[in-house]
Amino acid sequence: MAKNKVRVGVNGYGVIGKRVADAVLLQPDMELVGVSDVATDYRVKTASILDLRVFSSLPEKVGEMKAAGIRVEGTLDDLLAAVDVVVDCTPKGIGARNLERYRAAGVKAVFQGGEKHSLTGHSFVAQANYETALGRDATRIVSCNTTSTVRTLVALRDAGLLKKARGVLVRRATDPWESDHSGIMNTVVPEPHIPSHQGPDAQTVVSDLDVVTIAAKAAHTQTHNHYWVVELTRPARREEVLEAFRVAPRIAFIRMSDGIVALNSTIELMKDLGRPRGDMWEVALWEDVLTVNGQELYYTYQVYNEAIVVPENIDAIRALAGSVERGEDSIRITDETLGMRRDFLAG
Ligand SMILES: NC(=O)c1ccc[n+]([C@@H]2O[C@H](COP(=O)([O-])OP(=O)(O)OC[C@H]3O[C@@H](n4cnc5c(N)ncnc54)[C@H](O)[C@@H]3O)[C@@H](O)[C@H]2O)c1
Repeated sequence: MAKNKVRVGVNGYGVIGKRVADAVLLQPDMELVGVSDVATDYRVKTASILDLRVFSSLPEKVGEMKAAGIRVEGTLDDLLAAVDVVVDCTPKGIGARNLERYRAAGVKAVFQGGEKHSLTGHSFVAQANYETALGRDATRIVSCNTTSTVRTLVALRDAGLLKKARGVLVRRATDPWESDHSGIMNTVVPEPHIPSHQGPDAQTVVSDLDVVTIAAKAAHTQTHNHYWVVELTRPARREEVLEAFRVAPRIAFIRMSDGIVALNSTIELMKDLGRPRGDMWEVALWEDVLTVNGQELYYTYQVYNEAIVVPENIDAIRALAGSVERGEDSIRITDETLGMRRDFLAG
């Protein structure tokens, strides 16, 4: 591990940014220099109260932010001058406008799934392609759904079991913090195109995955739910498939028999386990629902969209900084510091 800590800034302190900032603070090899935003409400005031150094991403917002009582330490350019890597967690499309600014400052940049693959030419899921991001200027963490798709399908591929996969994704309507003004009620809205974007997006990480996704938006605000039908390379035993998921990183088993019978059960469990914000960074896969029939495999899992990409962001920082060479080493540090598990209810 590098002697010097990697200096990190987070631009955009929203759903993803505040979680990435907290995770950076936990890393022994990173220093959180500060966070930057444009908002003046409780979200950014909280950063100030938590003693984070707050910067203004747009010079014209400095006055407004100060007037709102936020201690503004400077502009985004001041933050960029003091960091090695910036994690851009701004809303979809804004990141793309920031790339040139990061390049001009000589700062490496991690973008999120709202941006296009073409922005960086590299999309990241630690377990699948950490090493190809080593030393790059920029990468993009794929979306929450795509991250879970790549984690699970790469687990099957690495066990020599994956031929092709077809998935149905039931997405949450909106995030809880903004459910006062967006989201749907009492309906389910199918995405108008098949494949939905998550399948092709997974192929930006692993180009030869044979995967098709179909998606719909449902009327709840927390977590996504996936249903997969996978053709295996050969008839397999159920236990072999479970073992493939068990040994892969960032997939944890849940069970109907433990009373984890729906999305709300897992949300409750994360809070009971004392997870920060009730976050679940792992893909939660129902062990006792998974079924194998000859060469066909069926399973369902839950994705905590607000949190699943956080460990990938941490690993991407190390990959771009070149401070840890092997993906498995970075994954180990990240997972230990966050307190991730392979099975939420095993002793
Ligand atoms: N919310 C999720 O579940 C989720 C999951 C995975 C990936 N993502 C991706 O992460 C990215 C961020 O999404 P989010 O949900 O955290 O959004 P968010 O709206 O919760 O947070 C965005 C933050 O950026 C700030 N901001 C707005 N304009 C800015 C600017 N010009 N400069 C700096 N900050 C600015 C906002 O004030 C807000 O605090 C998007 O690309 C999104 O697609 C979101």
